[in-house]
Amino acid sequence: MVNRRSATHTPVMLSEVLRALDVQPGGRYIDCTLGAGGHAASILEHSSPGGQLLGIDADPLALEVAKERLLSFKESAKLVNDNFVNLQQIAIKYDFFPVHGILLDLGLSSMQLGEAGRGFSFQRHAPLDMRFNPNQKTTAADIVNTYAETRLADIIRTYGEEPMANRIARSIVDARPVESTLELAEIIEKTIGRRGKIHPATKTFQALRIAVNHELENLESTLRQALEILGYQGKLVVISYHSLEDRIVKQFMQREAKGCICPPTTPVCVCGHTPRLKIINRKVVIPTEIEQRENPRSRSAKLRTAERLAVQADTYAVNDDSVLFNSVDNPRGGLRRPVLLQKIKMAFLTAS
Ligand SMILES: C[S@@+](CC[C@H](N)C(=O)[O-])C[C@H]1O[C@@H](n2cnc3c(N)ncnc32)[C@H](O)[C@@H]1O
Repeated sequence: MVNRRSATHTPVMLSEVLRALDVQPGGRYIDCTLGAGGHAASILEHSSPGGQLLGIDADPLALEVAKERLLSFKESAKLVNDNFVNLQQIAIKYDFFPVHGILLDLGLSSMQLGEAGRGFSFQRHAPLDMRFNPNQKTTAADIVNTYAETRLADIIRTYGEEPMANRIARSIVDARPVESTLELAEIIEKTIGRRGKIHPATKTFQALRIAVNHELENLESTLRQALEILGYQGKLVVISYHSLEDRIVKQFMQREAKGCICPPTTPVCVCGHTPRLKIINRKVVIPTEIEQRENPRSRSAKLRTAERLAVQADTYAVNDDSVLFNSVDNPRGGLRRPVLLQKIKMAFLTAS
């Protein structure tokens, strides 16, 4: 078992993230994927004096590590063990909006990958678990041992982009029950053989992890919620590690940067969509060669940034209740988000 206290995770593209978030003294930031707190610590340092950070992680053990690392920022950091899919609720609960920046550094940390018992790695013997949050119900073993063959093949094909998905699913079903990571890796290797440097189980393990943690659905939903929490000119910064995640981020940013999103055949615009984001880096940012060499885990990383735009429908009268303010720079005026506003009102009504 890896000792969590000595476990580390090197934050990926640290200076690029700080630049993309445009971290300023007194700024307010949400780190949705706290991990070991590497990005968070630097955000807090650079936003001092007066900066604040809300850190979220689904993994209670990661939170423990981050808490220790961020001990000296106790006054300015609020750390929450939750799923980032609840971003809006969390921001409301802790009265932490609007914010200057939101960071998502997706996937799993080196600590989780190296930790015995979590089942993320096909190189370590462990039960097939793969949950970020151990309190969640479904594990990888449940999927591997109970899903119908076609559903299993679909997961491996869609989330792993594995062309041999049908054959792998067949072999898994034939070998049931499959109990451990090494057992599963061996079944896959026997089924499709080894080609090149990449282990043949890589794609299937990725697929199972995505399915267990609902990673793609959660990402879609969280990006939409981030728009409601960001203040005017606030930055949304996302690091993804595989093409499925990156596609979701790219398409989301492109869609939100557009005006009309009606199908091209529609004669007159009926969607009324207005751009809510400005894409900052048209070309995706990747780690420098030096970083890729020093931290091989960073090799697949892709960073995208967008900036929240002011939208006509978001503006409000200066004398509205203070809870409606959504301008990070002007405490007496700014923007409001109708959807968020509705939710806040509901939260207050339920609480009273
Ligand atoms: C790549 S690590 C983040 C590392 C962090 N940036 C650092 O510098 O240490 C990703 C973290 O996100 C967490 N995570 C993944 N999906 C999550 C979700 N849906 N909700 C909350 N945390 C999540 C994982 O538990 C993991 O700790």
